[in-house]
Amino acid sequence: MSNLIFDSVTKIFGEGGSKYVALENINFEAESGQLILVVGPSGSGKTTFLTIAGGLQTPTNGDVKINDSTINSLSKKQQTKLRLEKIGFVLQSYNLVPFLTVEEQFKFVDKLKK
Ligand SMILES: Nc1ncnc2c1ncn2[C@@H]1O[C@H](COP(=O)(O)OP(=O)(O)O)[C@@H](O)[C@H]1O
Ligand SMILES: [Mg+2]
Repeated sequence: MSNLIFDSVTKIFGEGGSKYVALENINFEAESGQLILVVGPSGSGKTTFLTIAGGLQTPTNGDVKINDSTINSLSKKQQTKLRLEKIGFVLQSYNLVPFLTVEEQFKFVDKLKK
């Protein structure tokens, strides 16, 4: 069973003359335990794809499902809970705590959960 599903996901930034289609009808599935690399030139939509997959941005059209929850049908609070419990992100501009070890970073998240 797939844990992450993109069903015809489109993301459009801007409107009118400045409208930009960053993702167009993307279908994608990832299963538990898979290691997937998303590669492509700068500006091809990798960050847009990943931030939508992680529930940080919402698609303009289409659905994203994580473990059978359709992200856009969840409340903001439920989306936040899903991100906290199911999703880990290290973005280019990462927000790790510089003086903690990797293990301490994870423990820190557990402390904050409460
Ligand atoms: N918030 C935004 N507003 C307008 N355009 C954006 C925004 N985010 C990304 N884009 C545009 O969408 C396209 C894909 O960007 P991005 O997903 O950052 O690509 P990548 O990570 O592959 O370099 C680029 O043309 C970028 O300029
Ligand atoms: Mg990027």
